[in-house]
Amino acid sequence: MTKSSSSKDSITGSLRLLLVLTAALLISACDDGHDAPVPLTLRELADQRGILIGAAAQPGLIANDADYARILAAEFNSITAENDMKWKATEPKHMTYTWENADAIAAFATAYGQTVRGHTLVWPNEFQFQVIPDYVRNAADASTMQQYIDDHIEAVVTRYADVVDRWDVINEPLETLGTGVDQNVITATLGEAWMVRAFQQARTLDPTADLYVNESLTELIPAKHAGLLALVGRLIDAGAPIDGVGLQAHFLGGKVPAALQSVMEDWQALGLKVAITELDIATVGGDLQTHATQYASVFATCLAVSACVEVTSWGFTDRATWLNGFIGPEFTPLLFTENYQPKPAYTAVAKTLAGD
Ligand code: XIL
Repeated sequence: MTKSSSSKDSITGSLRLLLVLTAALLISACDDGHDAPVPLTLRELADQRGILIGAAAQPGLIANDADYARILAAEFNSITAENDMKWKATEPKHMTYTWENADAIAAFATAYGQTVRGHTLVWPNEFQFQVIPDYVRNAADASTMQQYIDDHIEAVVTRYADVVDRWDVINEPLETLGTGVDQNVITATLGEAWMVRAFQQARTLDPTADLYVNESLTELIPAKHAGLLALVGRLIDAGAPIDGVGLQAHFLGGKVPAALQSVMEDWQALGLKVAITELDIATVGGDLQTHATQYASVFATCLAVSACVEVTSWGFTDRATWLNGFIGPEFTPLLFTENYQPKPAYTAVAKTLAGD
């Protein structure tokens, strides 16, 4: 009894020792696990740096693709509706409104504590895309066209003022491949006065939002940058309350232009904010390392210029990029693969935001 009990005690003792040692090993393994830094999301890193990191988003994917929605919520502190806040999407006929998709974007952003870039109140330039509703194009006279613009801005800004904190009031006022003001049907009919009025109206309706002109290719074409500087200067002189300039930054050649920083600094010198609003960088020859370096350089440039408040990419997964249809599926321009794996560009951006 005694023996057996003492033997049992000794087995129990060995077992206890074994358990204690095992527990100690497990705890130290756990400690190692806890000590290893949990990688922060791009959103957390951007929050720490005080900049916005955004992505253009599509409500159909938000609703039907859980991976898409999960990454969009986790990795970005801002969203831009890729198409669903545009004029044709929200008011295809005068005062006939189709808000459902734009509402879905706004609701998602609200649910996940994200800001929204309101894109866009008026996009007059129709190069490549038929963006002006027919009723506007066919307005009976100039004052009717102006009324349509006023009504549209009032409806959209009123509806989304609470969730949108900055508006692309005007998208692409310049000729796409030129340097001057685009003579589309709106500007040809109303001159530049409609632009001044659009900014004034947006300011009145949403006094706390930042108001932007958003433009393509100025980072790449110096004369177009000069054209935009001239136009924005004229609009401000005429009383337009402009807070910032959006650089679309569609780098379809796979290179980031050397002038990006000086272009930003020119806007900063005028006291304006500057945002990268539609970044995508083509991958050339499947070289994902170069792609990563290019992405990192855009974020580094934004961090280096105090007026730069935002880097938004035009989507985040190669599964859903407008470039698949526009220039081809081989350019894989975004941060995640079509199967939602983070690419080297993701890691490079994270390191840049972390200051590594
Ligand atoms: C694009 C969308 O990505 C496409 O789905 C749509 O067919 C056309 O518009 N500049 C802009 C964006 O300001 O609104 C455009 O978005 C891309 C070019």
